Amino acid sequence: MGNRWKAVVFDLDGVIVDTAKYHYLAWKRLAEELDIPFTVADNERLKGVSRMASLEILLSLGGKRAQAEEKKRLAERKNAWYVEMIDKLTREELLPGAERLLRQLRRDGVKIALGSASKNAARILERLEIGEYFDARIDGTRVGKAKPDPEVFLLAAKSVGVDPVDCLVFEDAPAGVEAAKRAGMHVVGIGSEENLPLADWILESLDEIQDEILYDGL
Ligand code: BG6
Ligand code: MG
Repeated sequence: MGNRWKAVVFDLDGVIVDTAKYHYLAWKRLAEELDIPFTVADNERLKGVSRMASLEILLSLGGKRAQAEEKKRLAERKNAWYVEMIDKLTREELLPGAERLLRQLRRDGVKIALGSASKNAARILERLEIGEYFDARIDGTRVGKAKPDPEVFLLAAKSVGVDPVDCLVFEDAPAGVEAAKRAGMHVVGIGSEENLPLADWILESLDEIQDEILYDGL
């Protein structure tokens, strides 16, 4: 039995930690202020997408436009509410199986990288005390192009010195799964097949990881 992947790249929000709900709550609050109808289903389109790109989608849902300065102000407003919530994050909010899988990969000698769109990633990793598992951390402060652009995953692979074809990605967002496929990687979708049709495997959570996905020659 050997490792099937030389590196594993994790999305953060909604894969390792249950922060997707806080993003939703903060966008919902902004939507209400702006009088824009915003549902849980609409929120799926924002998952994995950068802060500014998410704001654009939100504004388009309400048929609204804004000048650059105003957009900056709105994005900062949303982020302030979001940061207020994540500053109270506890290790209880690590998603099922996340830390166990990180530990297992480390034991197996597989490189571990973060591939997140979030500019708050460093703060979250620190709060959860899991930063030391990662050999490379690529987040929203490092990339210019939002998922579904493959940039974040390509940079993650490069940072750990592994070819994309030898990388496995864990993602919960349609835009993130598309980004990983465009990077030429295999992807485990965390969620439902209906929502993530491009994923190579679907799991409800990392807790359900199977040896068939991680190892060769079983
Ligand atoms: C992604 C989330 O991980 O990060 C998105 O799925 C979020 O919902 C994006 O918009 C950017 O996050 P942040 O923390 O930089 O606003
Ligand atoms: Mg995510």
